[in-house]
Amino acid sequence: MKSAAIRPLKFDEIGDWSVLKLEILRQYSYAYSTILTKHRLHHTYIDGFAGAGHHVLKRTKELVPGSPWNALNLEPPFRELHLIDLDKPRANELRRLSAGLPNVEVHDGNANEILLKLIPKAKYDQRRRALCFLDPYGLHLNWNVIEAAGKMGTIEIFLNFPIHDMNRNVFRDDAAPDDVARMTAFWGNESWREAAFSDKYHLFKEMEKQSNESVVEAFRERLKKVAGFTFVPPPLAMKNSIGSPVYYLFFAAQEQLADKIARDIFKRCVFRSMNG
Ligand SMILES: C[S@@+](CC[C@H](N)C(=O)[O-])C[C@H]1O[C@@H](n2cnc3c(N)ncnc32)[C@H](O)[C@@H]1O
Repeated sequence: MKSAAIRPLKFDEIGDWSVLKLEILRQYSYAYSTILTKHRLHHTYIDGFAGAGHHVLKRTKELVPGSPWNALNLEPPFRELHLIDLDKPRANELRRLSAGLPNVEVHDGNANEILLKLIPKAKYDQRRRALCFLDPYGLHLNWNVIEAAGKMGTIEIFLNFPIHDMNRNVFRDDAAPDDVARMTAFWGNESWREAAFSDKYHLFKEMEKQSNESVVEAFRERLKKVAGFTFVPPPLAMKNSIGSPVYYLFFAAQEQLADKIARDIFKRCVFRSMNG
């Protein structure tokens, strides 16, 4: 009998904008963990789309730490960590990286299902809080996860808003039904259509696409009004080498202090990336 082929572990190649994202998350995690440790809260880190733990930097081919590796090595440490990836070799690599750490659980499976089980555990009256990183490649996250996190009142999120996937596959007249369904699952309903298109048809009877900024602003409103996050600073446009946005990095929280810290980090990191 033939044994099933085991796929090898493959690291992603990442661009400079991903390095910036990782640095923002690392800096915020440090501030978050310092404050929550001081207040003796049980703070959990949840990485929904964790990756392999490391990446290869496209420009130099060097190995760079990914979000789970940074979280595992944080000082002061998170009390509990959950690392999720759909890809089995990546999940196995995360198990290897976290071997011997009793406060880490690696899950291989669909984040949209696993997160809905983990999120309700962040109970306010049990002094539990969570920082959740939602970083899919594209439109692979469901709105009900985001909304569940917002409604808990104890969870802060960093969220990758995949504008490139939307522009390329969804905001076009000949969009495939599967891509439209992915968009609706991410947004939570069909109201993305009003956000993405003006009701004017232009000369050739095609829908007129709104700017990226207005789509992003409509989603920001949803994070506040529908998901129930109290503070959602303007997200950061993560741009490729030719200046075109690949995604927007959102932060959403319930505390003013969290909002202030995230805004400061956004500002500092952008300034640094623009000035070498
Ligand atoms: C952008 S990468 C994550 C990078 C990582 N957060 C970092 O910054 O180091 C996205 C990861 O999500 C995983 N993935 C894709 N769909 C998924 C799903 N439905 N549930 C869980 N993981 C998924 C992929 O295997 C991939 O490793």
